[in-house]
Amino acid sequence: METVALDNDADQAKPLRMPVQWVNRPNLDFRGFSGQIATGILRPGDSIRVLPSGKTSTISKIVTLDGELSEAVAGQSVTLCLTDEIDCSRGDVIAAADNPPEVSDQFESTIVWMAEEPLIPGRAYWLKLGTQTVSATVQSPKFTINVNNMEHMAAKTLELNAIGVAEILTDKAIVFEPYANNHVLGGYILIDKITNATVAAGMLHFSLRRAQNVHWQATDIGREAHAALKNQKPKILWFTGLSGSGKSTIANEVEKTLNLLNRHTFLLDGDNIRHGLNKDLGFTETDRIENIRRVGEVAKLMADAGLIVLTAFISPFRAERDMVRAMMPEGEFIEIFVDTPLEVAEARDVKGLYKKARAGQLKNFTGIDSPYEPPENPDICVNTVEMSPAEAAEHIVRQLMPLK
Ligand code: ADX
Repeated sequence: METVALDNDADQAKPLRMPVQWVNRPNLDFRGFSGQIATGILRPGDSIRVLPSGKTSTISKIVTLDGELSEAVAGQSVTLCLTDEIDCSRGDVIAAADNPPEVSDQFESTIVWMAEEPLIPGRAYWLKLGTQTVSATVQSPKFTINVNNMEHMAAKTLELNAIGVAEILTDKAIVFEPYANNHVLGGYILIDKITNATVAAGMLHFSLRRAQNVHWQATDIGREAHAALKNQKPKILWFTGLSGSGKSTIANEVEKTLNLLNRHTFLLDGDNIRHGLNKDLGFTETDRIENIRRVGEVAKLMADAGLIVLTAFISPFRAERDMVRAMMPEGEFIEIFVDTPLEVAEARDVKGLYKKARAGQLKNFTGIDSPYEPPENPDICVNTVEMSPAEAAEHIVRQLMPLK
């Protein structure tokens, strides 16, 4: 996509857009922003705006390997110097000050699926658009397109070579333009976060209206103030393991100990949350992903309130556990693997669910006909074959010390 020949006259007539590829700072006297001009023309003295920050400045110099230029046009790779020391880094877009592109985090898009494994709605993929890379999730498609007769068909996902229209959400706002106006700022690829394979190519149509009028509200009492009052460092203690592995029992023991140590805690438990907030969700892959996304968001809010949050969910997929980890500051997400082999959990069968699943009365049961992906590098691991719940809890609390 980056090497597609540009239709030069048409692209020069459009407003200036230059995605910043890198920032050049060979010495303190020189700071230049390098990239390829996607559309428009620029000259020293032109007013520009850096997106997404919206900061404005003026071009002082256009530098290339062949010397300084008095003008540069779409398709050329240049280094720009500005008259002001404003923040601008890789992934930002330099644009005409009076005609900037939009910034949004929710879009309607056409997606061409290119991988053997179908799209998993709700799963986070890397989205690369121009020089920007963000985390993105795709909703279930609104429809897929039959390329033979252009008919719209209903679909829950996108299989290999399918073309569909779906909403796509990014974790950070990106600078974009509809693909129809600008291929560089409207075309993107999706990359699987675990295999690093390119799984889809997409074209943005427009920003969803619901994304446009919602702004982040700054509040004065932030997470530090909440935590300071409780005299503790917030954390998420994320328990993961098979059904019947002992997550809830051990998390409950850990919470009791923390409570005795004057820690402010809250335990979110799978079975309980599924009676309220998540009662609309079942056990398909998509529902489990949404279950963990919501629990992650709630746990993060509670950590922002200064709490030590314990969560006890099977959370079978690495990708979603990693997604929650990525939402938290470094060191505040502690993944605790409650390592109980399937035979042991099944032999215990506390709720009689394994028996039902084996008898075919319960579909998509984790470990039987639905997968569990054990953590590769858990922060803490407890083996419940060798340890009692009390011993496991003691081991975990000891690993957490000093709890400051
Ligand atoms: S998760 O996979 O989405 O993380 P969660 O921890 O919320 O699962 O819920 C798991 C609990 O739901 C189990 O402990 C069990 O009591 C119950 N359950 C009911 N049906 C299933 C199923 N098909 N697979 C796993 N657990 C199930």
